[in-house]
Amino acid sequence: EQYHEFVVKEATVTRLCGTQQQRIMTVNGQFPGPTVEVAEGDALIVRVRNRGSYNVTVHWHGVRQMRTAWADGPEFVTQCPIRPGTSYTYRFTVAGQEGTLWWHAHSSWLRATVHGALIIRPRAGVPYPFNAGDTPAREITIILGEWWNMNPIDVVRTATRTGAAPNISDALTVNGQPGDLYKCSSNGTTTFSVTSGETNLLRFINAALNTELFVSLAGHTMTVVGADASYTKPYATPVILVAPGQTTDVLVTFDQPPSRYYLAARAYASAQGVPFDNTTTTAIFDYGTGASNSSSPAMPTLPAYNDTATATAFTTSLRGLRAADLPARVDESLFFTVGVGLFNCSSGQTCGGPNNTRFAASINNVSFVLPSTTSILQAHYAYAAGGATPAGVFTADFPANPPVRFDYTAPNVSRALWQPVPGTRVYSLKYGAAVQLVLQGTNVFAAENHPIHLHGYDFYILAEGFGNFDAAADTASFNMDDPPMRNTVGVPVNGWAVIRFVADNPGVWLMHCHLDVHITWGLAMAFLVEDGVGELQSLEAPPSDLPIC
Ligand code: C2O
Repeated sequence: EQYHEFVVKEATVTRLCGTQQQRIMTVNGQFPGPTVEVAEGDALIVRVRNRGSYNVTVHWHGVRQMRTAWADGPEFVTQCPIRPGTSYTYRFTVAGQEGTLWWHAHSSWLRATVHGALIIRPRAGVPYPFNAGDTPAREITIILGEWWNMNPIDVVRTATRTGAAPNISDALTVNGQPGDLYKCSSNGTTTFSVTSGETNLLRFINAALNTELFVSLAGHTMTVVGADASYTKPYATPVILVAPGQTTDVLVTFDQPPSRYYLAARAYASAQGVPFDNTTTTAIFDYGTGASNSSSPAMPTLPAYNDTATATAFTTSLRGLRAADLPARVDESLFFTVGVGLFNCSSGQTCGGPNNTRFAASINNVSFVLPSTTSILQAHYAYAAGGATPAGVFTADFPANPPVRFDYTAPNVSRALWQPVPGTRVYSLKYGAAVQLVLQGTNVFAAENHPIHLHGYDFYILAEGFGNFDAAADTASFNMDDPPMRNTVGVPVNGWAVIRFVADNPGVWLMHCHLDVHITWGLAMAFLVEDGVGELQSLEAPPSDLPIC
């Protein structure tokens, strides 16, 4: 059992050529926030005290939270926000997962600066399954992020008010620092000291709000051994792709001439004509050459921002190490469209979107609206315990299929039908059901790779492809032998992905695009998993300090 105290509070930092210090929300004054390190099987108790000026919640991204839905954290989904001056204690066990996860604020855009690593090592005496059983000589945590020269909360508030797209970030970052390719940033550049001949484990986390990232280390091959806290078969590559929400663990052997090498990351921006942060963040891997080395570090070659071929080659090369619990049966077959659309503007609204519209996004044409008076889990729990119907909070009528089958070959028909309908709708799953979900990307406004994240579960990715998912033809391509297991899948631009999981965790579980701009626009829904013992009755009662709205 491990206890941590997270104090959410302001800190002042300066980045880029900011003439004045910027106040940002942090945990314990640190940016990025503190790293939580556990062994598989550990219980975690984290008391979050909000001493800041915004409502906040903390989400333990990727943690299964088996029967501990109250500790999952998404605001208005499993709890009301922790208001300034109050606190909430998250209690959960990290079991059956090893590798790299992370934690982040799940309120508005606070996660831009309120985030940190959650490292899960095997329990004592259990070796890593890679590196021939050797423990890597060193482990290095690398958190990729985004920086705005203004308060990220103001960035999203402005966008919500106008209906326009939010400002893109001013810099990408490695462990909170843009790196020396940006103005005024040389001094803070993140530097990692390495030792010739050693093999190290690098744990990458993409904590950026809106940017998928290609990452490469000059002169060195990376061998992927895990993703989203599930082990993979070793896969050697010069470049990895990490979408917001995802993590990737790689082994690197430092076998090059002693020198300094850049680690560099920049956007994979799959949407045509949509503005993105096209800058490059760097950190330096230094073999101990020290200050005497004044020459510029070697720079890796990164794919072009629109290199979908490289992105696809990477994601489709990952193979799971084990797929022991992949269900062969399917009890619930779901088909969800995911994409960005547009709301028509009503009078009195500011319509900063294209052609006098407001941006909207949806799953099966439902644009998700968060409740505001209680959380979905609280409303459902109260109902199951004999209280009032939750109808004023949510309805359990999320559609299993879109209103029309999206069709890339008939774009005008599809576009005409894509005016999202706002709603707080959940899909009920029977406890224990084997769920297969086809995620079909759309191109109503602009096609884009969507990193879709499911709370409370890991899932197997059976296949992905381009164009329309075709059940007859594409089912034959499912990988039933060694599919990768993840919590966040990049649904290919102009394409689809198929995932499968067993609904064995009762609770209310948000699923959403991890590009924050898209969740802001409603690209989200929630599953309600009942446990067969009478609607969540075996889920423990809400903790006594659960925030109320
Ligand atoms: Cu990492 Cu709902 O998010």
